[in-house]
Amino acid sequence: MSEEASQKALVLGGQSGLLGMSLAEAFAHDGWEVSVTPRPEHWAYDVESLREFFQKESPDLVLNTWAYTQVDLAEDEPEEARRVNKILPGIIGKALKGLDIPLVHYSTDFVFDGKKGTPYLEDDKADAESVYGKTKRDGEKALLDLGLDKLFIIRTAWLFGPKKKNFVKTMLTLCKDRENIGVVHDQVGSPTYTPDLAQYSLALIKTGQYGLYHLANSGRASWCELASEAVRAAGYSCTVNPIPSEDYPQKAQRPAFSVLDTSRFTQATGITPRPWLQAVQEYVYSETAENLSQ
Ligand SMILES: NC(=O)c1ccc[n+]([C@@H]2O[C@H](COP(=O)([O-])OP(=O)(O)OC[C@H]3O[C@@H](n4cnc5c(N)ncnc54)[C@H](OP(=O)(O)O)[C@@H]3O)[C@@H](O)[C@H]2O)c1
Repeated sequence: MSEEASQKALVLGGQSGLLGMSLAEAFAHDGWEVSVTPRPEHWAYDVESLREFFQKESPDLVLNTWAYTQVDLAEDEPEEARRVNKILPGIIGKALKGLDIPLVHYSTDFVFDGKKGTPYLEDDKADAESVYGKTKRDGEKALLDLGLDKLFIIRTAWLFGPKKKNFVKTMLTLCKDRENIGVVHDQVGSPTYTPDLAQYSLALIKTGQYGLYHLANSGRASWCELASEAVRAAGYSCTVNPIPSEDYPQKAQRPAFSVLDTSRFTQATGITPRPWLQAVQEYVYSETAENLSQ
């Protein structure tokens, strides 16, 4: 793909999605014309309508961040999760078939069962235990089965970033006026800052080396460690105490260990993602007290 400044990116979910908004900003900053959509409406589930939409928009690249992301609620609404996470990517892929427009589709570390114990590679078995993880994996497969020539699937993890509710922001809001809080310490993953992910996605896309990639900030953390560092960066005195998952019951089974190995991305781009700790500090410093209290 050329690096002409006049190219157009269409970000599905870029109007209000956590990652989508960062993608829209990064691509615009890089000189792309950017078009964004809100969450998918009924017409998006029709191949012909979607194809007409793509033809009208005429983008050089489509990025799909549309997803059913409420991990616990998905256990109660498996059909709706399946519709957004499995059926819709297949429809997007079919609508793009033959149009020669590259597609970037985002997926998740929750496709893994978390039992491996060392960082997950792209080709490791994806045996999700939650409805969310299973439907996201099925969405990947739906796209891969179409045999699209120009497809990136990017699995990422534990997102935090500006303009939308996320785990780090929730922790800061809770910890602002509290003396202590208990946060799960027996789930370990790859915290990832959406502006970083957007920049790294852009770099990967420019290589034209299509395929399945893991992409996250470097390092690993438990939810407790992530919350502790965010609270420290904010200068709050709240103590973050480690607790086991059984003390914070959640409907969906989450992987105990879902750290992503990003070396395939580094081989393709020459970029080593910066540590999540640097990124979380930047994020916390960039949020104003007013934002955090929302
Ligand atoms: N957030 C994470 O920690 C995380 C971790 C790993 C992978 N990912 C993946 O990264 C991608 C982007 O995630 P994100 O956190 O940016 O997602 P998000 O902000 O929750 O949502 C992304 C888009 O999907 C829409 N959406 C959310 N829930 C929906 C539902 N139930 N029905 C229909 N549309 C819905 C959103 O609409 P609204 O803005 O109107 O809600 C938005 O347009 C997804 O593929 C996700 O699976 C996310």
